[in-house]
Amino acid sequence: MHEFLLQLPKVELHLHIEGSLEPELMFELAKRNGIELPYATVKEAKAAYEFDDLQGFLNLYYQGMNVLRTEQDFYDLAMDYFKRARGEGVVHIDMHFDPQAHLQRGIPLDVVMAGLLHAKEEAEATLDLSVGMIMAFLRDRPAEEALSVLENAAPYWKFLDAIGLDSAERDNPPVKFQALFARAKELGLVRVAHAGEEGPAEYIAEALDLLDVQRIDHGVRCLESDAVVKRLRERQIVLTVCPLSNVSLKVVDDLRDHPLPQLLKENLKVTISSDDPAYFGGGLLTNHVACAEAFGWGAEVFRMLNRNAIEEAFVDESRRQELL
Ligand code: ADE
Ligand code: ZN
Repeated sequence: MHEFLLQLPKVELHLHIEGSLEPELMFELAKRNGIELPYATVKEAKAAYEFDDLQGFLNLYYQGMNVLRTEQDFYDLAMDYFKRARGEGVVHIDMHFDPQAHLQRGIPLDVVMAGLLHAKEEAEATLDLSVGMIMAFLRDRPAEEALSVLENAAPYWKFLDAIGLDSAERDNPPVKFQALFARAKELGLVRVAHAGEEGPAEYIAEALDLLDVQRIDHGVRCLESDAVVKRLRERQIVLTVCPLSNVSLKVVDDLRDHPLPQLLKENLKVTISSDDPAYFGGGLLTNHVACAEAFGWGAEVFRMLNRNAIEEAFVDESRRQELL
C-alpha cells in the first residue's frame, strides 16, 4: 500500500505554507537573521510540538514564523516544502499563506509575495508541480484590518486563486467577515473558509450562507447537524479534511476514532490534506499511509479521494485533464 500511495499523483487542497516550516530550516533562518530561538536544538523544538488544542498550536505556529524576514526566507520556505512534497508524489498544492501574521511583525506584503511567487514559478517550471495561492485572513484579528489588507494587496489580486479564513475558530464566527468575503467575490476571487474544525456545525452553514464559500476547510464537525450534512451532500461541497492535524489538535483522540469513514458513508465530497505538516507529524503521504492503517482503505478509496481533490483544485482545465 505504501508504494501505491507514494506513486499516486496526489493533490493537496489545504496546506499552510508557514506550517511547513521544519525545525531544521527554522534554525537555519534564525542563524541567517540573527534571531534567538526559544529552543536549543531541533530535537527540543520537535519535543515542544505537543498540543492541547488549536490555540496551543497557533501560539507556536506564529512564534515559529518569526524567523521569516526576507524574500529569500519566504522563497526557501516554499521551495523546501515543494521539493519535499514532490518527493512524496504530490503534483498540485493549493497553498494558504497568512499576510497579517507577517505584516504585524513589520514584514511588508511585497516581501512575502515576491518570495512565494518566485518559488511557485520555479516549482511550476522545474518540478512539474502546480501551485494555487490562497490569501488567508486571521479570524481572531479585526475584520477592518482584513479588509484593508485585501485592498492593499491590489497589485497581487491577479496572482490569487482564492481568499481563505483561518486561525482561532472559537468565538470568531464567519459572520464577522461578511464584508471581506463580499469584496473578494466582487473582485472575482473564489472563497474558502476553515469551519467546523473546533467550531460548531453552525459555522459551516454560516460560511456557506454568509461568505458564499466554495470549499470548507476541515468541516469534520458537520456530523453534529443532519441539516448541515444534507446541504454539504446536496451541493457536493468539498471538505478538505486533515486527519493527522485533527489528532494533533485533539479534535479526535485517536485516528481510528476519526469521522472520515462516516463522512464517506454520508456521501460527502471529501479530500485528504496535511494542513501544517511540520507540526503534525508529516506531509500528504504520511497522512495517506496513516489513513490506510487506521481505516483499512484500499486503492479505490484513495483514488476516489484524490479525484475529488483534482476536480476542486485551482488549476486550469488543461492541467486538470492532465491530472485526472
Ligand atoms: N492556521 C494554520 N493551521 C490552522 C488550522 N489547522 N486551523 C486554523 N488556522 C490554522
Ligand atoms: Zn488549516
